[in-house]
Amino acid sequence: MPPTAIPNLTVRNVTPADESEIRALISAAFPSDREARLVNTLRHCGALVLEQVALDETKRIVGHVAYSRVTPAAIGAGQAMQIACLAPVSVLPDKQNKGIGTTLTRVSLEALKENGEDLVLVLGPPAFFPRFGFDAELAQKVQGPYAGAAFMALALTDAGTRDLPIEVAFATPFQEFE
Ligand SMILES: CC(C)(COP(=O)(O)OP(=O)(O)OC[C@H]1O[C@@H](n2cnc3c(N)ncnc32)[C@H](O)[C@@H]1OP(=O)(O)O)[C@@H](O)C(=O)NCCC(=O)NCCS
Repeated sequence: MPPTAIPNLTVRNVTPADESEIRALISAAFPSDREARLVNTLRHCGALVLEQVALDETKRIVGHVAYSRVTPAAIGAGQAMQIACLAPVSVLPDKQNKGIGTTLTRVSLEALKENGEDLVLVLGPPAFFPRFGFDAELAQKVQGPYAGAAFMALALTDAGTRDLPIEVAFATPFQEFE
């Protein structure tokens, strides 16, 4: 488990034993259980490329993040790109605004980079994601079902900026989520 900037906070990959705790966490962080169901469906259809949790000093799961595979649809240089979608990231309500979401996102992005991902996409609050380098302008070069200020992209390799524009398709469970 890599050390984090927050004392006693650890980040690790998800195991099957975490599933019910994760479902409860995501349902508590969002107004309904839609996001929890989305993660469950993505996980069980094999669409997730990375899923990590943050644990506090008591080993309680306090944060969760999931990344799913995005498929380049266009013919051309970008076809070889490895693209992932961050959705969702969540922190237990009574643990929010203590740096956990920031730490978990940073650590997981580092893991994605080590895994060879070129580009990460997110649909989320523009007040939160730019701190990691997510950029709505870069995302304008990514054609798909999402657009606007909340749709942001982060390049993890040179190819992530060089081989754009590109057309992409998200994992099938996102279609039911809209
Ligand atoms: C968004 C979330 C993951 C951030 O995690 P966190 O541990 O609370 O955040 P951190 O303590 O690391 O960072 C705090 C910063 O995030 C901002 N922030 C927290 N929640 C936010 C939200 N829903 N929208 C925009 N900004 C948010 C805070 O304003 C604060 O900004 P500042 O550093 O400029 O003061 C967490 O608040 C959460 O689970 N929210 C509900 C679920 C959600 O909206 N997820 C994002 C969509 S994928």
